[in-house]
Amino acid sequence: MTDSTVPAWWTTAVVYQIYPRSFADGNGDGIGDLRGIRGHLDHLQDLGVDVVWLSPIYRSPQADNGYDISDYEDIDPMFGTIDEFDTLLGEIHARGMKLMMDLVVNHTSDEHPWFQAARSSTKNPKHDWYIWRRPIDGAEPNRWRSAFGGPAWAWNPPTQEYFLHMFAPQQPDLNWANPAMRDAIYTMMNRWLDRGVDGFRMDVIDHIAKDPDALIDPSSERYVMQPQAHDYLREMHERVFAPRQEALLTVGEMPGVTIEDAIRFTDPKRHELDMVFQFEHVDLDRGPDSKFDNHRAPLGALKRSLARWQDGLADRGWNSLYLGNHDQPRAISRFGTVPPGSDRLRYETATALATALHLHRGTPYIYQGDEIGMTNAGFTTIDDYRDVETLNYYRSQVGRGVPAATVLEAIGFRSRDNARTPIPWTGDGASSFTDGVPWIGMAAAADRINVADDRAAGTRSVFEYYRRLIALRHDSEVVRLGAFALLEPDHKQLWAFRRCRGADARIVLVNCSDEPCPVPDALRARLGPLVLGNLQRAEALTKGPDDADAAGAESVEAAGPRADDVLNVGILAPWEARVFRECTEPDK
Ligand code: GLC
Ligand code: CA
Repeated sequence: MTDSTVPAWWTTAVVYQIYPRSFADGNGDGIGDLRGIRGHLDHLQDLGVDVVWLSPIYRSPQADNGYDISDYEDIDPMFGTIDEFDTLLGEIHARGMKLMMDLVVNHTSDEHPWFQAARSSTKNPKHDWYIWRRPIDGAEPNRWRSAFGGPAWAWNPPTQEYFLHMFAPQQPDLNWANPAMRDAIYTMMNRWLDRGVDGFRMDVIDHIAKDPDALIDPSSERYVMQPQAHDYLREMHERVFAPRQEALLTVGEMPGVTIEDAIRFTDPKRHELDMVFQFEHVDLDRGPDSKFDNHRAPLGALKRSLARWQDGLADRGWNSLYLGNHDQPRAISRFGTVPPGSDRLRYETATALATALHLHRGTPYIYQGDEIGMTNAGFTTIDDYRDVETLNYYRSQVGRGVPAATVLEAIGFRSRDNARTPIPWTGDGASSFTDGVPWIGMAAAADRINVADDRAAGTRSVFEYYRRLIALRHDSEVVRLGAFALLEPDHKQLWAFRRCRGADARIVLVNCSDEPCPVPDALRARLGPLVLGNLQRAEALTKGPDDADAAGAESVEAAGPRADDVLNVGILAPWEARVFRECTEPDK
């Protein structure tokens, strides 16, 4: 938030993330592109989103789907041309939306000319733009592991040194301690802003500062955030954002960031970033060794985690709100119980989770496909997968003797590819995404789970429900800015909270379970008129979850409040979500 009396524009905004290679293919090569996006801008405008975030479209060898950039100044030919980009940007602006670019500056591609120069000789002026160390006792200088498996160091014969790569070896880390390198990054960012883009989502930006001692400490095992990251971001703010700050949106992706640090990064008085993506809630189901050793996180852990962040950033700083993105499995298969391709409680779960998220205080991010209730992919063989992290994990586990079926089950739940399947625009599946062969398979049941069918589903359209959630944020000050308080923190089914601004308060009730959930009496007594609900009462309570497939698709009546609703709210149906005005005078 800004410290002026007028809250920043993005406190009202909802952001939609496009993963370009899977959104829409405009030229039949099987890979989504800028032309494809231009063909579906109605979808975004109808939804009502304010900002579009594009995952990377820069020139890249695609070792990590564009998060390995070889030219920051150009568009990859696979996605289109710089002219097409300008056209797209103009069309997005003409529709009253903004465009946020992905900025990947912790590392470049190993094919970037900077790295090619850097690796050629220790005498090259660009050498110091990356992070090099000599072997210690004939081995890597420390024990850091790459996020994608294996050591975080790779050998460079010409200079007889290792270079650091926190991700794939094709993604060497830039040396932010080098002022000339930082200068080149700021110049590049300013060029994009001059072109008219409205902000940046900054990839793993808390990784940019490295501890020089840890880099040569053979016992150092874990990379941790260094305080210099704040200095670099303040400098970036001064050099890039400050002159146009009011119009921009900046969000830093920060695996491992703590609440205390997030306050520092987003406190407007410190002039660093507008908001961060924190990872606490998406790491709850992580195993001790790897994210693939997953176990389901109980609801209590999830809601208490998000509540801690709400409290932590209540007075200073600002939260971004997300349950999914291109690095996470589909939210409804992960936080809900919807298996790949299933319709059982799919509409309910998608809308219930969205209600919980969008009624928090912060800026909500919608990941493409979540607005139509897409599930995990349902892939069954390793040949279905494309993601470097997933493939590395599979190879290493199978190599260690873990049965392939066990590994496939783990990645079936957790792989990033679950969220990277193409958007099925109609019931024709793949051919509604591309005239060719899609680069990765469609998710299970694309003939049923697709944009056209969802949008035609009336009161059971996930898309329509998202529209109402977005409109609610735009229209309601208490939803935007109201103070947050978690209710019933230990309840195992119910995610309940209160938002309050002055005399205006809302109570949000979400049954996050497959069973009906009685509303505790103390809460019931506080419920005033219904503001929003995902189910029509009569149908929700008379039908069991197993009937959900057939429910109400033919009904076009709006699922608005009805007279009997308020009285009759003793029990919430499975994955029912309801937002009420609070009836008693709230404490101020
Ligand atoms: C971020 C991106 C992820 C990528 C990684 C390395 O976490 O979101 O997709 O693999 O950074 O750039
Ligand atoms: Ca294409």
